[in-house]
Amino acid sequence: MNILVIGSGGREHTIVWKLLQSKQMHKIFVAPGNAGTQDIATNLNIAVADFDAIIKACNQHKIDLVFVGPEDPLVNGIYDELKLDDSTKHITVIGPSKYAAQLEGSKSFAKEFMDKYQIPTAAYQEFDKNNYNQGVDYIKNHELPIVLKADGLAGGKGVVICETTAAALAEFEKMIVESKFGQAGNKVVVEAFLDGIEFSVFVLTDGTNYKLLPMAKDYKRVLEGDKGLNTGGMGAISPVPFVNADLYKKVVEKIVKPTIAGLIGEQMTYEGIIFIGLIKVNNEPYVIEYNCRLGDPETEVILPLLENDLADVLVQLGNKKLNEVEIKISNQHAATVVVASGGYPNAYETGKKVTGINNVTESTVFIAGAVNQGKNLITSGGRVLAVTSIGNTLQEAVNKSKGSIEKIEFENKYYRKDIGYEFEE
Ligand code: AMP
Ligand code: GLY
Repeated sequence: MNILVIGSGGREHTIVWKLLQSKQMHKIFVAPGNAGTQDIATNLNIAVADFDAIIKACNQHKIDLVFVGPEDPLVNGIYDELKLDDSTKHITVIGPSKYAAQLEGSKSFAKEFMDKYQIPTAAYQEFDKNNYNQGVDYIKNHELPIVLKADGLAGGKGVVICETTAAALAEFEKMIVESKFGQAGNKVVVEAFLDGIEFSVFVLTDGTNYKLLPMAKDYKRVLEGDKGLNTGGMGAISPVPFVNADLYKKVVEKIVKPTIAGLIGEQMTYEGIIFIGLIKVNNEPYVIEYNCRLGDPETEVILPLLENDLADVLVQLGNKKLNEVEIKISNQHAATVVVASGGYPNAYETGKKVTGINNVTESTVFIAGAVNQGKNLITSGGRVLAVTSIGNTLQEAVNKSKGSIEKIEFENKYYRKDIGYEFEE
């Protein structure tokens, strides 16, 4: 098969790495990719938003399957564009239709969906310019903390947790009156704060059938002890130690099955991944958010534990025969530790030479933000590497990654040494 992977992060490097382990030889292209994908596949200099160029590349390289990594092209309708064009409509596209991608692209859409299909989530109301004053009253009478969410995609920054009513009112005004998040904040979801521990479930679906991938937990805060600013993710682990058989069953029965029933009920076209962000409160799972893609860096721990031939699974998914697939998951533990540029997620420098990756023997180094310049690997992003290890225990996996990172150098490298810390024995 000829496969095109769209995206340029550690997630996409991991997807390509996993596809290359397939029994059959596949020709893999990546748009635009990074240094990691350049070493093992063919990078195409095409932006993820340039759908015309993507369609052209599909024709030029006789692509059979497109795997879309990030949310932006999905929310902007890449699935539909490829399916509506006569020259690409035969291609299997891993991702939801534009309509279904609203599960990630619109918090309000996702909340209505959960309401309709009785999927446990925080109580909420939504407001815009037209009922602004009602919103002010709602916030004044709401218990604290209170959560404000810009409706649309805001690069992971659109959620604000407020500890005081005054802060919530100020934030509400900034979102709706001052358009702090532009269009994305025209509508605001105001919801109850759920106090618990977060984890994520990844569901493959062909729109009717579904299979679960390994669950994962990511570490979003930049500083150790889960302090500091939110990032794209500083590390991840899989499996999730506190998800026992009882909680797993609840996730399937109360969250996954009704979600799939909702896709069917709403006649959503969905041939891809539903990444459900969950929070455990009193041993019950609640949905914090839906995403319509794999997570980054969660992919860096999920795919290494998947024992199936990924290309085969995706073909079955495209044929709507996911029911015939038996997912096999390793019973080992995976951890990934992100190595970032100092300063991230605020301003950081790029252009630093990375050395020592060749000395790593116990881990797999996925490139998140680095480019090849001549023979050198040069940093180009805030998150530079995701260093994944497998172990018989979580601690063993984390320790291997930390040991590997000590062999890698670049100026101002920063990583969290405490990934998985809550579960240390
Ligand atoms: P989201 O973009 O919806 O995933 O929100 C970003 C982060 O905000 C989540 O990963 C949670 O840590 C936090 N969050 C969102 N909604 C809630 C809520 N209702 N209660 C507590 N924390 C929340
Ligand atoms: N690591 C969180 C995400 O991919 O959204």
